[in-house]
Amino acid sequence: MKILVIGSGGREHALIWKLKKDNDVEVFCAPGNAGIGQIATNIDIKVEDIDKLIDFAKNEKIDLTIVGPEVPLAMGIVDEFEKMGLRIFGTNKSASELEKSKDFSKAFMVRNNIPTARYESYTDSKKAIASLEHFNYPVVIKADGLCYGKGVVICHDREMAVETIKDILEGNSFGSEGSKIVIEEFLDGIEVSLICLVSKGKIYPLETAEDYKQIYDGDKGPNTGGVGCYSPSSLLNKDLYKKVEDEILENIEFGFKKDEIDFTGILFIGLMVVKDMPYVLEFNTRFGDPETQVLMKRLDSNLLDLFNKTLDNTITRADIKWDSKPSMTVILTSGGYPGSYVNGYEIKGLDKVGQDITVFHNGTKEEADKMLTNGGRVLSITTTGKDMNSIRDKIYSEIEKIDFKDMYYRKDIGENIEY
Ligand code: AMP
Ligand code: GLY
Repeated sequence: MKILVIGSGGREHALIWKLKKDNDVEVFCAPGNAGIGQIATNIDIKVEDIDKLIDFAKNEKIDLTIVGPEVPLAMGIVDEFEKMGLRIFGTNKSASELEKSKDFSKAFMVRNNIPTARYESYTDSKKAIASLEHFNYPVVIKADGLCYGKGVVICHDREMAVETIKDILEGNSFGSEGSKIVIEEFLDGIEVSLICLVSKGKIYPLETAEDYKQIYDGDKGPNTGGVGCYSPSSLLNKDLYKKVEDEILENIEFGFKKDEIDFTGILFIGLMVVKDMPYVLEFNTRFGDPETQVLMKRLDSNLLDLFNKTLDNTITRADIKWDSKPSMTVILTSGGYPGSYVNGYEIKGLDKVGQDITVFHNGTKEEADKMLTNGGRVLSITTTGKDMNSIRDKIYSEIEKIDFKDMYYRKDIGENIEY
């Protein structure tokens, strides 16, 4: 069987690692990275180049294509593949709107009684600035569209909020993705990622994970795509999970039906738990990175079976089985990330890392037999273990063996976690 995975990050590396672990499959990845290239065949086609991806899938007789990132989903890659009779796993263009437009997804949440932060949306900067009177500080200002995780600014005072509104709506700092903004009440709580398989509008949740968004220890500094993660969440106990099921998952399923959203693929629910109440911060219509790295280490079921059953609408909750042991990942980043950074530094020491650690590659390339950095997030150092303390000790001692110029990582991932 031949599989094509679209994307090039740690998420795609983890998906391919899991697919290959459980199945005798040939995997291609477009465009992939150096780590992915060690277990699959990288194909030099960009994730946005849907026509070329279709040609490749047809010529190679690919049995199943799996889409990692949001951009091709929002462009309608699933609709285009299906038109050509090609089997593909991901959300179609209209379902992907739940990630593509924050205004659309907030309206969906409010319409369907899904708890979320109070918001208003604007295209006009003067009206947006006037509306700041309706909010306390900090206030959250978001570009409506897809901004690679950079479109959210937490503004601590009015001056910063006004400047941010002007930057996005007048200065076009996010181009057309910022032609509208969402202004949102700040929720002070703990974030939990809940990634779900969705088959014809019915939700099948995977295990929970907690992602570390800020670049510095103690959750300080600017937001990133995520620089560390562990699973399961230590916060979502039985009572809270029941609230998520009753007040969020049920209402989402109801909303899909009422609004006639034909949803099959992945729904990633970004939750914020405030004083024992879960709120939805955002929806993504794809797997998370680094959540996928920790989830794939814990998933006992065959991932390919889960994808096929989701597509065929035969999946049940009992199909999704987990290793009860927790897992964790720490991301090694290029110095400067999430601001500017330099690519192309040689990565040394990977051959010395212990067998019980899985190194997923986020941003690497190989040149003249050398492994080089090629992104803000470079490597996800991942493992499972009997408890968080032993996992932490193992990961942080193995990281000592890896080195590249200006390498940086948080030292507090998984600290003080009690199950
Ligand atoms: P989003 O892309 O909407 O999830 O926002 C990215 C990140 O910004 C989230 O993961 C949170 O860390 C933060 N964030 C977004 N909205 C809020 C909010 N209303 N209150 C507090 N933090 C937020
Ligand atoms: N780790 C968060 C995301 O993938 O959006």
